[in-house]
Order: sequence, then structure tokens, then C-alpha cells
Amino acid sequence: MTAGRRYEEFGWHWERLYGQLLREGEAAHYRRLALRCGGPVAEPACGGGRLLAVLDDLAQPLYGWDLARPLLHIARRRVPRARLWQASLQAPALDRQVGLLALPLDALRLLRSTGEQRQFLAWAAARLLPGGLLAGDLTLPAAGLPAPLELPPVVQAGRSVTATVHWALEAEDLLEVTTFGSPGQVPVHCVDRYRQIDAGELQRLLRSSGWQLADWASDFAGTPYQSGAPRLVFTARPGGMPR
Ligand SMILES: C[S@@+](CC[C@H](N)C(=O)[O-])C[C@H]1O[C@@H](n2cnc3c(N)ncnc32)[C@H](O)[C@@H]1O
Repeated sequence: MTAGRRYEEFGWHWERLYGQLLREGEAAHYRRLALRCGGPVAEPACGGGRLLAVLDDLAQPLYGWDLARPLLHIARRRVPRARLWQASLQAPALDRQVGLLALPLDALRLLRSTGEQRQFLAWAAARLLPGGLLAGDLTLPAAGLPAPLELPPVVQAGRSVTATVHWALEAEDLLEVTTFGSPGQVPVHCVDRYRQIDAGELQRLLRSSGWQLADWASDFAGTPYQSGAPRLVFTARPGGMPR
């Protein structure tokens, strides 16, 4: 399994445009959760360490893994004290228990089937310390399809690279298609797939996997979730009977 060209070949591009960007309240939210849970924090699909970096000054051990080596390289430079390795969400290889498992920025949607989601949740339940939490945030189908986006050119090694992004629906997936272009080069199309999951489906998935929702909100400020909201910020804990 690889992360695909979007991150293997153009990870630097993502990093340059988004690697330092935090959404309103995001850092404070995940910091609060890390402190509340205590113990180590782990981030599957950690990318270039965008979130781990804001937890760096906490005393807790930090772990992260990702499929894309270029992004792990960036994360290692950014958060030298974090233990980082190459692995997938589907086969995480975390050998110890943690207080918080963080899945920011739609990472749960990288699990591509109910089977993969259930397998991940079973694995995660066994990796949490008592009182530990799984925390994530999701863009919901109610957000609709984003309008096509033209990203500003980014210069790397003297080469200017432009990118456009458009989104499409295919079966249960949202496809994010990024087309990279640079003068004299054939454009490169990269397709990333995010499984569509709505709030009710998440709730059913958690319940049927022996988890329960601890909190859910429409944003990082804790605005109560209401049907039709475009985002869901949630925490869940193992507990309850699998159904
Ligand atoms: C948009 S970045 C988000 C990174 C990070 N979670 C953050 O919040 O900044 C998506 C990351 O997911 C990684 N990724 C995609 N599919 C993966 C998988 N199945 N297992 C592990 N990492 C994956 C990519 O390599 C990329 O670094």
C-alpha cells in the first residue's frame, strides 16, 4: 500500500500550502483532549506533523505514522522528539497503549469500507489506556461538493507548480482530484478517496463496534451538533456492548 502520488510525489506541495494551517479552535481542542486523557498521544496518518507540532510542548510522549515517507521526513524535522514510522491506518503497528488517538482532518474517512472501519475500532479499543479517547473531525456529506479550486503556484527547486482541485462523488466515496502542472510537463492527475460518512452512520458504526460517543459538536468551539451541519467534531470511548 502507498499513499499515492498526491503525497509521495507532491507531499511537499501540500506541506507548503497547508502544513502550518490550523482551523479555528483546532489546536486548543486537541491540546485540551491530550491533557484530559493524559498518557501518550498517537496520530495515525500524521502527515507532516501539523497537529503533533502543536502538542510538542506538552510533557506527553507523541507517536505518529503515515504511509508517505516524504511527509514523515517533514514530521521528523518538525517534531524531533515524536516517535514516527511508516505504516498504514489499516496496519498501524503501535506497540503500546496511549491516552489519546487523534484522527484530525477526515482521517477516519481514509478507512475505505465498514470492514476496515470496524477493524480499526477493534484495534483502537485495545490500544487505549483506561479513560482514553478516540478523537476526530469529519467533513459531513451535508457540506456538499466543494467548488473547484485553483491553488497558487508553488516554486520548488526552481520549478513553478500549479494545482487545481475538483471533487466528485463515486459510489460511497468523495473523490478529490488534484491536477499538478508545470511548464513543459505533462499534467499529473492524483485521485484521493474519502469515504462519505454521516453523523448517524458514525454513531451506528461506533455502537455496533462496542464504542460510545463521548461528545459531538459542529465545530471546535463545541457548538452542539445539529442535523445538516457540515462538520462533526467527536470523541468516543470504548464501552457498551457490540451489536
Ligand atoms: C491531508 S494529510 C493529513 C495529515 C494529518 N492528519 C493532518 O491533520 O495534518 C493526509 C495524510 O494521510 C496519509 N494517508 C493517506 N492514506 C493513508 C493510509 N491508508 N494510512 C496511513 N496514512 C495515509 C497521507 O500520506 C497524508 O499524509
